[in-house]
Amino acid sequence: MRSTGVSSVASASYTFHRIEPLQHLPDPSTALEVLTRLANDPAIRHIMQLHRFSVGILTELAPHEQPGLLGLNVNAGQAIKLRIRTDAYDGFRLYAETRRVLCHELTHNVHGDHDNNVRELLSLGPVSYDRLLNTRPHSSRN
Ligand code: NI
Repeated sequence: MRSTGVSSVASASYTFHRIEPLQHLPDPSTALEVLTRLANDPAIRHIMQLHRFSVGILTELAPHEQPGLLGLNVNAGQAIKLRIRTDAYDGFRLYAETRRVLCHELTHNVHGDHDNNVRELLSLGPVSYDRLLNTRPHSSRN
């Protein structure tokens, strides 16, 4: 029986190809550290290799510019934008929360809707589907 796990040789394609904090917000160097930590997170790397997810740019959403959103996947992997900062811009949101939103956004590389395909996909990931849906990352009215 063949292994269904991730190859021991990770593909360089299935990753974030650029990491870009928003330079007009405070402390972009810490924002870069947060985004880099997410991109290198073993659980995130595992999901991306397993499902062959490639994302052009990992960047952030400014809370005051996108008040209803925690995360956004643009054009199925062209870019993923995450709200990593507190609303008051006095720090950064909890890492585990941001990572949960990122897991959810990654599913939109292949699935536009929150249906059974997303449920099946996320069952393979490190966090539960129900918790991800409860995050409601895209919209305050979703
Ligand atoms: Ni979603």
